[in-house]
Amino acid sequence: MLNWKSDRKIVLGITGGIAAYKSPEIVRALVKAGCEVEVVLTEGGERFVSPMVLSTLAGRRAWRGCEFLSDDYGWRIPHISLADWADAVVVAPCTAETLANTVQGRGKELLGSILLATGAPVLLCPAMNVNMLNNAATVHNLDILRSRGYHVLDPDSGDLACGYEGKGRLPAPNVILEEMWRAICPDKSLEGKNVLVTAGPTHEYLDPVRFISNPSSGKMGLAMARAAWYRGARVTLVLGPTGISDLSGLEVVRVVSALEMRDAVMSRSAEMDYVVKAAAVGDFRPAEFSSDKIKRRGVDTMKLELVQNPDIAAALGERKRDGQVLIGFAAESSDVLANAADKIRSKRLDYIVANDIAAPGFGFGVDTNSVCLLGADGGSASFSGTKEEVAEGIWDTVLSGR
Ligand code: C5P
Repeated sequence: MLNWKSDRKIVLGITGGIAAYKSPEIVRALVKAGCEVEVVLTEGGERFVSPMVLSTLAGRRAWRGCEFLSDDYGWRIPHISLADWADAVVVAPCTAETLANTVQGRGKELLGSILLATGAPVLLCPAMNVNMLNNAATVHNLDILRSRGYHVLDPDSGDLACGYEGKGRLPAPNVILEEMWRAICPDKSLEGKNVLVTAGPTHEYLDPVRFISNPSSGKMGLAMARAAWYRGARVTLVLGPTGISDLSGLEVVRVVSALEMRDAVMSRSAEMDYVVKAAAVGDFRPAEFSSDKIKRRGVDTMKLELVQNPDIAAALGERKRDGQVLIGFAAESSDVLANAADKIRSKRLDYIVANDIAAPGFGFGVDTNSVCLLGADGGSASFSGTKEEVAEGIWDTVLSGR
């Protein structure tokens, strides 16, 4: 399922709420992601944001309310050609009025007619005052739209332009984009499935300020989590300390040490259909933790005693239930395939992703990877590319074997 994000055609509807002032950033994010964007403003939307800003950023005209059913464009039947052209329609921000109109199937404005005519997935991003959002009419309209298959992005909470504080903010452009990819993703084979992914390093503290760790960035695990989420899974990401912040849509459990990671994983593992162990778990931790910072003065050499951490993957293998799939990662610097194959057996995994960390430009900390996926049945497949591409390849293979 490679390249399903490439060259996507997006209709971005902008309606008349104050959050429309953020919509140029959405256009930029879409264009940066390689999408073609047709912007469609409602009359209300146009009061908040200039068509010229939007058309400059989109690199093409922005459709204005007055151009629908006009002598200039009528012959093009814009609502049908845009509805058919789109791979997805995103309405951001989406007002309570537009939600109500969509429930009723009103096509007076160009955007309403596109929504009536399109067969593409539609993502609605409501943004409004908290009382308008909680109003029974809006709640009811959102329920109806969800039941009709519209994707609805939950608004953020915080300061609202009207002076209120509460739910109703338009989420950031990257959050809207991720939700759009999930709506567009052609493979929904993980719908209704629970997936747990571990990612990142662990920190094994010896005193309040010092720890033993490794350079894992968490990017490969995040790519595995995102790819599963795009395919419809409910995804829990057990994440060691990393700088990663772009985690929308995932249920994130932050941990620091291997012991915390073990507890977070084992307490959730029973309900999981797939567990992906992409974390670089510290194999050892200091035997003792000093609650005071260890002093340097008068100490020339120091011996640090380490004890082994529990092997989380092996513990999962021991209590694996029928139908549960365990996928491990093995970062190796020699005898890569033989060592990885050994770990499939010793940890009772279904798959292991073998990673040669001695190869330059791949693995820890970088955005690309080159791996070999080994199956417990003896099968193997190789993938190279961005971590996103590698994750897609791994899921394609794992899911095709089901
Ligand atoms: O470190 P090792 O090469 O044995 O890691 C192989 C797999 O086991 C990885 O998926 C890793 O996340 C997992 N592992 C673990 N707990 C450990 C060590 C490794 O779950 N203590």
